[in-house]
Amino acid sequence: MADEISKELFKKYELPRLPYNLDALEPYISKDIMDVHYNGHHKGYVTTTNKLVDRFEGVVKGSTTSYDIQGIIRGMVFNLNGHKLHSLYWNNMAPESKSEGGPGGIAGDMINKQYGSLDRFKQILFETANSLPGTGWTTLNYDVENGNLQLMTYENHFMNQIAELPIVLILDEFEHAYYLQYKNKRADYVDAWWKLINWDDVEKRLRKAINRAEK
Ligand SMILES: [Fe+2]
Repeated sequence: MADEISKELFKKYELPRLPYNLDALEPYISKDIMDVHYNGHHKGYVTTTNKLVDRFEGVVKGSTTSYDIQGIIRGMVFNLNGHKLHSLYWNNMAPESKSEGGPGGIAGDMINKQYGSLDRFKQILFETANSLPGTGWTTLNYDVENGNLQLMTYENHFMNQIAELPIVLILDEFEHAYYLQYKNKRADYVDAWWKLINWDDVEKRLRKAINRAEK
């Protein structure tokens, strides 16, 4: 029994490496924002998730006898999704020199077919992003059921989501993502973020989602 209790049943999460330096997205996103955002907020989500994984494991093993399971699960969903969404967000951006040219490949074709043009897509994306009440994310998701590229917003880290829609493009709209630099001008941050989109990553995520749908 002692061996069973000491054995780790649930794996821990790790803060992924940033794919560029903290100052690589300047002048659009400052080094100070990246430092607080990555080393503060994202790291915090990972640390808290791991504490909750420990706590959950204690519940499963019976070694934790006094607990609030709803509190553990709600905390887990918030922090673990915070970790996963940020991991997508970092890789979905690139220094401006790498992000020029817009989408090519399948992503470019599908955006043109479903939205008419890249300009129209950008316009609707900005309207969607700027309509988000309070805090959350704007995403472009691939629907594995019918191939729609659907713009959505996630309120907070977890509300207003649809199941089974892999994210191909993601914008963080929490105040910690822009406030140090843009203050209350969130739309200016959205404009700047557009210049940082890593379209290669969008294409890679879309192909992965399509492959998953075809299996
Ligand atoms: Fe964030």
